[in-house]
Amino acid sequence: MNVRIKYTALAMCSLFILSCGSEFKNDPRIAAIPCETPELFINEVWPAMIENCVGCHYPGEIGSMLIFNSFDTVDENYNVLRNYVRSGNASKLLGKTIGDLFHGGGTPFIDANSQNYQNLSALVDIMLQDCKQE
Ligand code: HEC
Repeated sequence: MNVRIKYTALAMCSLFILSCGSEFKNDPRIAAIPCETPELFINEVWPAMIENCVGCHYPGEIGSMLIFNSFDTVDENYNVLRNYVRSGNASKLLGKTIGDLFHGGGTPFIDANSQNYQNLSALVDIMLQDCKQE
C-alpha cells in the first residue's frame, strides 16, 4: 500500500515536471514562426537593435515587456518584435526610441529623422500587415 502511494507520488511528480517542460516549449516567444522575416529586419533593424537596445532588453535585465535574446535566432527575435507591435504597441515602440514617450533607456534612435528610426518605422508598417501564410 505504502509502496503504491510512493509510486503514485513519483508518477505525479514526473508528470508535473514533464508538463512544466512542455509549457516552456509553448513559450509564445519561441513558438512557431508565422511570417517570413523581412530583409529590412535582418539587414538593418536587428543589427541596430543589437547595438542600441539588446544590451538592456534581455531576459532578467529590465522589467519590460519587450525582451530579446541574442542567443535565439534572428527569426525568433523578429517574432518577439512583431508580436509586441501587433499587441497595440506600435506607437509605444517608435515613441520610446526617440523620447516622444518617457523611456528608461533614453533616446537610442535620436530623433525621427535618423536612419535607424526611419527603418524601424518602415518595418512597423510591414509588421502590421498580415503575412501571406496567415
Ligand atoms: C540603457 C537601457 C536601455 C536601452 C539601451 C534601451 N532601453 Fe528600452 N527600456 C529600458 C527600460 C529601463 C524600460 C522600462 C521603463 C520604460 O518603460 O521606459 C524600457 C522600456 C522600453 C519599452 C516599453 C516596453 C513595455 O514594457 O511595453 C520599449 C518599447 C522600449 N524600451 C524600446 C527600446 C528600443 C527599441 C531600444 C533600442 C532602440 C531600447 N528600448 C533601448 C531601458 C533601455
